[in-house]
Amino acid sequence: MRTNQPKTIYLSEYRVPAYLVDTVDLRFELFEDGARVHSTLSVRRNPESEAGAVPLELDGDSLKLESVSLDGVPLAQGQFEDQGDRLVVSQVPESFELTVVTWIEPQNNTRLEGLYKSSGMFCTQCEAEGFRCITFFPDRPDVMSRFRTRIEADSKSYPVLLSNGNDVERGDLPDGRHFVTWEDPFPKPCYLFALVAGDLVEKRDSFKTCSGRDIDLRMYVEPRNAEKCDHAMDSLKRSMRWDEEVYGREYDLDIFMIVAVDDFNMGAMENKGLNIFNSSCVLASQETATDLAFQRIEAIVAHEYFHNWSGNRVTCRDWFQLSLKEGFTVFRDSCFSADTGSPTVKRIEDVTLLRTAQFAEDAGPMAHPVRPSSYMEISNFYTLTIYEKGAEVVRMIHILLGPEMFRKGSDLYFERHDGQAVTTDDFLQAMEDASGRDLSQFRRWYEQAGTPVLEVSDEFDANACVYRLSIRQQIPDTPGQTNKQPQHIPFALGLLGNRGQALPLRLVAGEVDAPAERVLELTETEHTFEFHGIDEHPVPSLLRDFSAPVRVRYPWSREQLLFLMSHDPDGFNRWDAGQRLAVDVIQELVGASKDVAVDPRLVTAYGHLVSDASLDQALVAKMLQLPSEAYLIELADAADAPAIHAARERVVKHLAIALRDELVACYRRNAESEAYQVTPEQIARRSLRNTALSWLLLINDEEGRELAVRQFRDADNMTDRMGALRALVNSDYEDERDRVLSEFYTRFQDDPQVIEQWFSVQAASDRAGSLPQIRALLEHEAFDWKNPNKVRSVIGAFAGQNLAEFHRADGSGYDFLAEQVCRLDDSNPQIAARLVTPLTRWKKFAPAYGERMKAGLELIRDKSGLSRDVYEVVHKSLA
Ligand code: ARG
Ligand code: ZN
Repeated sequence: MRTNQPKTIYLSEYRVPAYLVDTVDLRFELFEDGARVHSTLSVRRNPESEAGAVPLELDGDSLKLESVSLDGVPLAQGQFEDQGDRLVVSQVPESFELTVVTWIEPQNNTRLEGLYKSSGMFCTQCEAEGFRCITFFPDRPDVMSRFRTRIEADSKSYPVLLSNGNDVERGDLPDGRHFVTWEDPFPKPCYLFALVAGDLVEKRDSFKTCSGRDIDLRMYVEPRNAEKCDHAMDSLKRSMRWDEEVYGREYDLDIFMIVAVDDFNMGAMENKGLNIFNSSCVLASQETATDLAFQRIEAIVAHEYFHNWSGNRVTCRDWFQLSLKEGFTVFRDSCFSADTGSPTVKRIEDVTLLRTAQFAEDAGPMAHPVRPSSYMEISNFYTLTIYEKGAEVVRMIHILLGPEMFRKGSDLYFERHDGQAVTTDDFLQAMEDASGRDLSQFRRWYEQAGTPVLEVSDEFDANACVYRLSIRQQIPDTPGQTNKQPQHIPFALGLLGNRGQALPLRLVAGEVDAPAERVLELTETEHTFEFHGIDEHPVPSLLRDFSAPVRVRYPWSREQLLFLMSHDPDGFNRWDAGQRLAVDVIQELVGASKDVAVDPRLVTAYGHLVSDASLDQALVAKMLQLPSEAYLIELADAADAPAIHAARERVVKHLAIALRDELVACYRRNAESEAYQVTPEQIARRSLRNTALSWLLLINDEEGRELAVRQFRDADNMTDRMGALRALVNSDYEDERDRVLSEFYTRFQDDPQVIEQWFSVQAASDRAGSLPQIRALLEHEAFDWKNPNKVRSVIGAFAGQNLAEFHRADGSGYDFLAEQVCRLDDSNPQIAARLVTPLTRWKKFAPAYGERMKAGLELIRDKSGLSRDVYEVVHKSLA
């Protein structure tokens, strides 16, 4: 197991590998009580390394070494040393063949790293450092090798045997066993290795590439999921087309495979030619998956597919460069989703996640730059900062260069670095070389952690007809980083006149054909911009489309926000104005007496949104979602979660009572039946009717209850069934709640992906998710400690979404979480470390809460034999 005092790895200590591995020949003998792995590496000294004739060191983890031989000669004790996490061979020639045989126990692997078993099948997860749990190997992404993999297993239990590349040979073996050999022609780092063996059904399709090659597309799933593959397959084909059209990237192997597995730590993994997915991120049918799940699946399938170029053909030199592939690939999948659905809605969703969760991370003890400079456990760095902020950084490059130069830059990047393991700096260099732009200051986005704050102030000079806008940027201190330098920020804006007209933005007096929107580039701590020929005090529309991942502070009045809500030509900012208004109204009520009224202007504005069917309904559906509790907490100082919960609920109830008839009308207007499709229009209609339902139930409306019960019973899709279920679960109609929950369970008990949703709708509810109820869910027959999705759907949903209950004043929620983290730490440290996150934010809360949260962290800290994963998170949080 793990050591108790993990060591810190530094980017500054990076050295090129002393040895390279050109080819890897693997033979897996898979059995029920374990697996034997024969690995033959062709090794040679790296001409680029200054290390010279040093011993060969290979990484290992939880391996039982059976034998080592060099150029076919078995090595004797003393010629090598098995240090557990390392195999050292002291005397090696310049180039040689090393054969290592190890024994592993996939059936007992609960960490779900390396080779493990999930619902009876063998599968792998090697990123970041899982390959060392399979065999001894230089487990680092800058060692790229050609893999040949032979898998041997029982033919009955494991008819399907898969690995990367092309299947080149297959045949039968004695004792009812068989084998398949796979060859991957593309050199790759070992984190992209994959193996699957199981009794799976195959779904086939094909794709003709832009150069006319036919690609075999195959999905492998358990037989009961055979009907849930169409959406992923369709998403895959559209992703393949999109990457050709938008980036000029063609698929390179003859086969592309997707496998669904139930037990998986993350969403999915881009193994070369053999993507492995968490079942919940790939399987969908109308009856079992919500609109949200359909969209998520499309995005993740695209994401993993896009990695074939941004990640696999061009990979990372070391794990500090993780955002090189993740930030870029999230940017790519986000543009893809925007192109397939509603761009404004997609932008709103991305920004909501960023501002709620990434901003919180950036302001907490685990804050780190997009390119971190140190870590203890790399698994802890698959973060919102690496992924989402990393994507925002690439988006800013796109804004600064414009689409054409950006494409030139990406072409150059792929061409220059094809087959290489490179750095974020190489990416920026390609962008600079292709465009001629200087991104040297921009590089600070990769080096400095923390969310920049932009303080904006203005003044209108009526005599000179000049409007002056001053913007000051400041980047908060983060652990280990102070006194930060100003960053290069693209700041998109427009100015609106009194009648809602867009004013021309003349940066010099008399400028003709001045645009109504500009992207200003902020590079200094403070800038003042003058707009000429302005004859009224405008309302500024700032940071349009969220052109940079920053916080903007400007003293908009509520009147101005209402004005922007209906007039801003930028859809994102129209939404954002509504959010700011709602935040302002809710914040005013937090901890306030009942005498403080809910601002009637909010009611008027929301009434307009609910009733006016001529507005863009997809945008309206988003605007009706009030800011979440998590976002309100993120914005607060010394947050009081129960008070925030109460204030928010008070506003929703107030709106629901005032707009009761409009909500019923909105429900009915959006409820007529049509054949289910996942289109932006239909998604918006379902979202609107389910929002109406949830608001009506919050005020115990009888008609709302009837509508919900009927919708629950008659729904032909999961979005509506779940919408009705959620509304009832979060209502005071206790009898209905229990009845629909048990009906739902009976109906879907054989479908783990649906049962996960059933768990989380309860765990996230302040009505159905009190601590005793949560403990009961952990005892439920469908709960499984070994399945990360189940753990997340109960414990994660409770601590992450059921904030009023989690933050009970007596601290019981915190102790509960600490207890579960300790329990999970022994079986699955990656999942345990993720679950700690809510406690790490203890400084954000009012001391009465914060001190109790800290006590929860200390409880975890004091557990014996803490994993490196949890150790890092807990110790950094307490530092
Ligand atoms: N590369 C995968 C992706 O597409 C995620 C792998 C996560 N692995 C881990 N150990 N955290 O995003
Ligand atoms: Zn990824």
